[in-house]
Amino acid sequence: MGLFSKDIATFDDLFHHQLQDVYYAENQITKALPKMIEKATAPALKAGFEQHLRETEGQIQRLEKIFQLRGEEAKAVTCPAIDGIIKEANEVAGDIADKAVLDAALIASAQAVEHYEITRYGTMITWAKQMGRDDIAAILKETLDEEYATDDKLTDLATSQVNAKAEAVSA
Ligand SMILES: [Fe+2]
Ligand SMILES: [Fe+2]
Repeated sequence: MGLFSKDIATFDDLFHHQLQDVYYAENQITKALPKMIEKATAPALKAGFEQHLRETEGQIQRLEKIFQLRGEEAKAVTCPAIDGIIKEANEVAGDIADKAVLDAALIASAQAVEHYEITRYGTMITWAKQMGRDDIAAILKETLDEEYATDDKLTDLATSQVNAKAEAVSA
């Protein structure tokens, strides 16, 4: 999409653009999660990231199914927003020496990713319904539910153990 070429003419074009954007984002997330699994120390956090990596792979397949239902080729368009969230996550993680504090930072970064996904999937569901594609909305809703569940699980991990351990670290 260029500054002077108006590639998005219709509401359907807008949906298509968003679909390509989130397809890119999910693919970037599958590349980022293995690094987060590696950096995580709390076993429950590691396991949570591992589970969400598998879920994310399934979410990519759901998006491919949606492209197929729309008679389109699965294609990605760069999403600067997710690139920025992942870049910031890496920068912050690189600045933290203590493993307990790092776990708290990893959760914060992962929640930024989940909230980004939640806003995107929420919008796409309402757009799909508006266009009379309840079949596509239902597929997107399966993913949205996984993102919400992941976000909740991260909050539980933070408040039940990770944040207290991080706070206990002395300078
Ligand atoms: Fe996702
Ligand atoms: Fe996610």
